[in-house]
Amino acid sequence: MTMTRHATTPIDGQKPGTSGLRKKTKVFMEPGYLENFVQATFDAIGGIAGKTLVLGGDGRYFGAQAAATICKMAAANGAARLIVGQGAWLSTPAASHLIRKRGADGGLILSASHNPGGPDADFGVKYNMANGGPAPESVTSAIYARTQEITEYHILDAADPDLQSVGETRLGETALEVIDPVSDYADMMESIFDFKALKTVFQSGFRMRMDSMCAITGPYAVEILERRLGAPSGTVSHETPLPDFGGMHPDPNPTWAHELMTEMMGSGAPDFGAASDGDGDRNMVVGAGIYVSPSDSLAVLAANAHLVPGYSAGLKGVARSMPTSAAVDRVAAEMGLDCYETPTGWKFFGNLMDAGRVSLCGEESFGTGSDHVREKDGLWAVLMWLNILAVRKMSVTEVMADHWARFGRNYYSRHDYEALPTEQAEAMLADLRGKLGTLKSQTFEGLTVESSDEFSYEDPVDGAISKGQGFRILFEGGSRVVLRLSGTGTEGATLRVYLERYAAGPDGLDLDPQDALAPIILAAEEIVGIRARTERIGPDVIT
Ligand code: G6P
Ligand code: ZN
Repeated sequence: MTMTRHATTPIDGQKPGTSGLRKKTKVFMEPGYLENFVQATFDAIGGIAGKTLVLGGDGRYFGAQAAATICKMAAANGAARLIVGQGAWLSTPAASHLIRKRGADGGLILSASHNPGGPDADFGVKYNMANGGPAPESVTSAIYARTQEITEYHILDAADPDLQSVGETRLGETALEVIDPVSDYADMMESIFDFKALKTVFQSGFRMRMDSMCAITGPYAVEILERRLGAPSGTVSHETPLPDFGGMHPDPNPTWAHELMTEMMGSGAPDFGAASDGDGDRNMVVGAGIYVSPSDSLAVLAANAHLVPGYSAGLKGVARSMPTSAAVDRVAAEMGLDCYETPTGWKFFGNLMDAGRVSLCGEESFGTGSDHVREKDGLWAVLMWLNILAVRKMSVTEVMADHWARFGRNYYSRHDYEALPTEQAEAMLADLRGKLGTLKSQTFEGLTVESSDEFSYEDPVDGAISKGQGFRILFEGGSRVVLRLSGTGTEGATLRVYLERYAAGPDGLDLDPQDALAPIILAAEEIVGIRARTERIGPDVIT
């Protein structure tokens, strides 16, 4: 086998975000595109000679081919060992776990998360560090800088390796270990949760629907729920990962997981429902007839984590992203836990977890996780809920009612205005920035502004400062509206408007969130003029 150096020239636009480089699949398939980015990644981390890397992805179109290319490149770059999920499959949390468990130097995850897959959809490559978490900005910037000066990439001149058969072979000088993508992860879940209690629950007729949306959690959910926990076969639907996710948009929210929502809101609904996204790090949980907002889910997990064996010693602390509701803050205050408010993006939690400050984190964007890995973890969140329901012997509706009665309810909703002209969205927020200082004490729709600012964060571990992380308008009584532009949208600008209103109870705890939030929605309109300026009649997506 010979190693080939291919001369290449820089390709524009290979700037990874915190979730790696995401582009149209066809762009990734252009000659040299993947190769340039992967070589730049290897170069930026100081080369990979003698290193061990984990590799896998969510099964989307081009993933297997990309994995074969990356294996040949890693071998040509002198990697000591490659640990690859069979068929190039690994969910994002499973990859994070493997990096940690095997003491690997890092890993590459092939996914565009919840974005659709296929030749006309999206693809992505993300580099994770030795702690199992996404590369920090210092590393992604170095990768980007390298893509702008790259002159050659290295690849083994060999046939594509067989990534379908479990076992160890050699690729050039490199050990190539193809592993079952599911078993290590399932074992870890077994070490965190009370599988015995969960088995009993399923034996006694508890019914669940897990919608894997033709994405990567299918094989994990079948192994854990149906094989190890004995849930009836068929509990997991859309369980086979497909290159185009069967045409589904694998984003677990009420809009895209509509099949699950219809089943859960209908008569004869199962006791519990859940969905996950393309790469398995997001989750949505639903009870029979009740949708649990991600912010509420985080608060419930914080309040009940001690019932789960893996957290029986209590939590070190909790964290949420700024736009996530303050429901978890109320739990933390009552339980005497530190509570951190970070900018949007999982990477901010990694530092807090590595420093041992928090063990549970979550975001309104359907991400929940703990320090068992350094990514958010969809199936873990589902198992947390199952374990809590098993111990408390309550339905989801009962758990929520009990939670709100104890802590009060943070009514919450997010309104998204998608594909706005970027200039229009930016001008709207620039105007808001201009009048932030004047809002205090003004009253809109009966709500008086207590304070307003643009969120900035100083990382308590490394002191890094992140500015411009979204606009907050806080009203007296604990209501607020937050506005920010999405960092993951692919077309124009997506404006996210996060609405929250606190009800202390005991009355008024079971309103429809949109009704409960109506005054806040009107106040936001009065202050920012979203509908008036965009000429939209309402949001495109409501979560
Ligand atoms: C990704 C990140 C999350 C983050 C989300 C925000 O999914 O992994 O940590 O919350 O993006 O997306 P947005 O579109 O609101 O910037
Ligand atoms: Zn994801």
